[in-house]
Amino acid sequence: MTNAGEGHAPPAWAAHALGNVVVDGDTLAARVAELGRKITEDYSTDPPLLVGVLKGAMLFMSDLARSIELPVEVDFMAVSSYGTATSTSGVVRIVKDLDVDLKDRHVLVVEDIVDSGLTLNYLRRYLGARGPASLEVCALLLKEGEQRVTQSLKYVGFTIPSTFVVGYGLDVGERFRNLQGVYTYVGPESVDQ
Ligand code: IMP
Repeated sequence: MTNAGEGHAPPAWAAHALGNVVVDGDTLAARVAELGRKITEDYSTDPPLLVGVLKGAMLFMSDLARSIELPVEVDFMAVSSYGTATSTSGVVRIVKDLDVDLKDRHVLVVEDIVDSGLTLNYLRRYLGARGPASLEVCALLLKEGEQRVTQSLKYVGFTIPSTFVVGYGLDVGERFRNLQGVYTYVGPESVDQ
């Protein structure tokens, strides 16, 4: 479901670099709350360990965790993909690993965006090898028709057109993560899509 929210102009400080709003802040908040309710139901007997993938999932993780009414635990890992600034090669380097043991845990990976799916594919194999009781994914955004790797995503916030986006945690060159909504990026830095 694509949400092209109209009438949500980007803030003045970022307007020069942004195109259309893809998902506005209010729509994001409503959907994150809905995902939280669904996760609360699905994991009612087995509260999950939420594994956030830094840095892109920082805002999503923070809002999602607060919308789940269960005693969840939270951990983070940081990965960096080899490739250009804006497209991944699928070779992933673990920059920060998890602090907790995954053995017999119900693990829910919280990811910002799935593009080619290569990063997630790598993470699944990496985390799956540590013996979790279950391993599922909650991705805020899924790019339409872009996946080079088949993924089964238990929870998806929004399916969006295949274009480079920023905001709500997503960046280009570390900027624009603090936008309340998700916008297409039309700024000066080259975007290799
Ligand atoms: P994938 O391995 O191609 O699925 O890429 C996943 C990672 O690339 C995400 O976790 C993001 O960090 C980054 N990424 C992919 N598309 C975008 C985008 O449109 N904006 C910002 N980051 C993106």
